Amino acid sequence: MSDKKTKILRGRLLTFNDAPKGADDWDSYSYEEDGALLISNGKIEERGPYSVVASNAPTGTEIIDHRPHLIVPGFIDTHIHFPQAQVIASWADQLLDWLNDYTFPAELKFADKTHGKRIAKEFFDALLSHGTTTAVAYCSSHPNSVDAYFEEAEARDMLMIGGKTMMDRNAPADLCDTAQNSYDDSKKLLEKWHGRGRAHYAVTPRFAITSTPAQLEAAGSLLNEHPGVHLQTHINENHNEISLTKELFPEAADYLGVYEGFGLLGPRSLLGHCIHMNERELGVMRETGSVAVFCPTSNLFLGSGLFDKARLEASGIRTAIATDVGGGTNYSMLRTLDEGYKVLQLQRQRLHPLTCFYWATLGNAKALSLSDWIGTLDAGTDADVVVLDARATRPMALRMETVETLSEELFVLQTLGDDRAIVETYVAGSAAKQSGPE
Ligand code: GUN
Ligand code: ZN
Repeated sequence: MSDKKTKILRGRLLTFNDAPKGADDWDSYSYEEDGALLISNGKIEERGPYSVVASNAPTGTEIIDHRPHLIVPGFIDTHIHFPQAQVIASWADQLLDWLNDYTFPAELKFADKTHGKRIAKEFFDALLSHGTTTAVAYCSSHPNSVDAYFEEAEARDMLMIGGKTMMDRNAPADLCDTAQNSYDDSKKLLEKWHGRGRAHYAVTPRFAITSTPAQLEAAGSLLNEHPGVHLQTHINENHNEISLTKELFPEAADYLGVYEGFGLLGPRSLLGHCIHMNERELGVMRETGSVAVFCPTSNLFLGSGLFDKARLEASGIRTAIATDVGGGTNYSMLRTLDEGYKVLQLQRQRLHPLTCFYWATLGNAKALSLSDWIGTLDAGTDADVVVLDARATRPMALRMETVETLSEELFVLQTLGDDRAIVETYVAGSAAKQSGPE
């Protein structure tokens, strides 16, 4: 449970001001070797050198000394599937077989709210033990699963985004809704949860293959009627998926044209994968301000392809990075950055560790249009914070003996680190790594 007591966290602070333009873009970040955060009522009240913050704090303020560890903003995962906690690590063929053989059967179990509640506890524990303080999740098509998800988020005071998956064809009958009841249920859930505490709703048509035109139209109406909510879906992940989409929507110019035609694109639209994009689609992504979400462990695991960050960003497209568990293979944003680095290496694109840590924090917060609240250690923002130990394992400690710079340390963390490198995760100022509420 959250404790709202005023406290000071002392340690080595790292937070970003902007996307690093290169290895020596010192202005893009702020680093304080002996720094401190003053936290009160779930917010960061002050950030600065320890000596200054401590002298300004009320006498008797609790001091939690995390030296010599790094204190960074909590990680943000911009695409994950809550009902796939028991799908992760399933030996399957590529996307469509994986969905039919493992994913849909697992999601069917969420008809039972008791199952949803149990998995929600495990899911949130997994996020926090890996240093993730905000995630954008697909729930199942059962409204119950959305309640289970947001109830657990509320109990932990976490800023979470999520929504009911809308799907009315090409899936088991018991997982399918209809255009009308998916609209009605999404609207009810949205009105119940969006803006309650820290909850944000995302309208969630799974992808073009599992929605009729009538359902995509309903999703467009929900967005129109509720301009503050997000939209999440999948696109251009797999060649068979793209061919089937073309058969189902022969009138559309291309895959993105389907979503464009139903008014689903905009600055709060999060499009998972974006691997096989044509030039027209890139132009539409840019014009609409839609976000392309890179899911490296999933793209490798399902053999989907390589996300071309340089091409997307050269086209002026906003990007984010995510785990995509259960197609993704790890809850850790550190593991995700490591695999993302390798995917870009294969394309001769160099991803600097400063850019990696920017991406998993402020970059993802900007992609969600939530950087006034999360993604930095700036005063006035929510106190979602993670403490990292670059010597968490013996191989890491051995490698750290020769590390001389902050960037090198970050690279050790992302290349060798996982949940063992997470010393503590603070949610709205409360230590939350160990386990959630009973
Ligand atoms: N496309 C449609 N549904 C899914 C899903 O659950 N995971 C992934 N990776 N792609 C999808
Ligand atoms: Zn996904």
